[in-house]
Amino acid sequence: MTFRDSEHPAVTLPSLQDRIQAYFDRVVDGNVLHGRAPMASDVMLSGNDYLNIGNDPRIVGEQLDVLARHGEDIFMSGAYAQYLDQQNRLEEEYATWLGAEAAALCQSGFAANEGVIEAIAGPNTPIYIDMFAHASVWQGATVASAPAFAFRHNDAEHLRRQVAKHGPGLVAVESIYSTIGDFCQIYDILDVCEETGCMLVVDESHSIGVIGMQGEGLISHLGLTERVPFRVFSLSKAMVGRGGVVVGPARFVEYFRYESTPAIFSSAIFPNEVARFKATLSVVRGETHRRSRISGLGERLRSGLLERGYDVSCSESQIIPLIAGPESETRRLRDALEANGVVGSVFCAPATPRKRSLIRLCVHNGLDTDQIDYILEVCSRIRDLVRPDRWPAGNGRRSRGIAATVEVESGSLSVVGATSRAGNI
Ligand SMILES: Cc1ncc(COP(=O)(O)O)c(C=O)c1O
Repeated sequence: MTFRDSEHPAVTLPSLQDRIQAYFDRVVDGNVLHGRAPMASDVMLSGNDYLNIGNDPRIVGEQLDVLARHGEDIFMSGAYAQYLDQQNRLEEEYATWLGAEAAALCQSGFAANEGVIEAIAGPNTPIYIDMFAHASVWQGATVASAPAFAFRHNDAEHLRRQVAKHGPGLVAVESIYSTIGDFCQIYDILDVCEETGCMLVVDESHSIGVIGMQGEGLISHLGLTERVPFRVFSLSKAMVGRGGVVVGPARFVEYFRYESTPAIFSSAIFPNEVARFKATLSVVRGETHRRSRISGLGERLRSGLLERGYDVSCSESQIIPLIAGPESETRRLRDALEANGVVGSVFCAPATPRKRSLIRLCVHNGLDTDQIDYILEVCSRIRDLVRPDRWPAGNGRRSRGIAATVEVESGSLSVVGATSRAGNI
């Protein structure tokens, strides 16, 4: 893409001109997020369709059917819409699935996080945010005018010290961290919350659909629903749609619908999307075999990478990061992988610290073992070029003893610890 070396005459604010210029100075060699155009033969590890159902005809068909038969009639904020029968039914299904009192559909995972934090916190509510949590949580804290404090990734003792300094409030974590793929140290974090009088909100965007016999996510799967009042997730990962969900106590959810800014001031989800989500939920809950292969494929890729000198020891899930460090190194890695037909997604500042940019490989049910072995072969081939021995170490803290993945054992499904690899616990 080329850019005109000119500015609109009405863009007169010098500070804005400086910011735009700083962006163009930074991306002089092209934006690091974009490598070459993908090709049909590529092994794609850049998406979040973990169960490989995005184009399932049962899901797409339901959506098309609603569009063809009814069209759309909800061009308004959800706060006005009184007769959302299908949506209300879907929300009840989500709540039942997740063992919660109630659920509310939101326009995106971002809106769900921003809205829920805003609805819970205010200027006198400190918010403690794991430093690897999603930007939407920080956005929620800003909108709530709440004092926000980072705590070191998965470090319950650091959290405890922060709460001792600033007082009880809201703690925000993710069940599977979206950039480096480790699990939340949920038991330790919960202990701190309960001992210090904090409430917990867990973002389950990357565990919903993947963890648990029916894909119910980490908190339900571990039987922790009574201890975790609020959960949030994006529907744009394993649930392959555009939306988000907030889960919590019934009175809170009702209040959230009418008091959080994104719920009031942005339009409702369309009926065709609701139909899509409903069909997706049925596939996700019912087709356990789709998640049963993911942990095995992830383990194969992870251990193969470790054998080849790539430190991915922070990862415990379908998300496997290659943390090359500075952007120039990540760009080199991106190009080397893509030249061999392997496509991941680049994460760099502001999604990561500036010196810790990475390529995220997402393992999914559309892959097979031959493709995993091919990726490993490519990683062997490019090792001398990309020099993983010089990369910064991944700093995930492995979640001790969390039984979190689903595997098929002797023909039946069982839940096994994701963390049993010796030396990494
Ligand atoms: C952990 C996490 N939370 C929230 C979001 C935002 O979700 P959405 O893309 O639906 O706005 C994402 C996705 O980018 C995510 O990874």
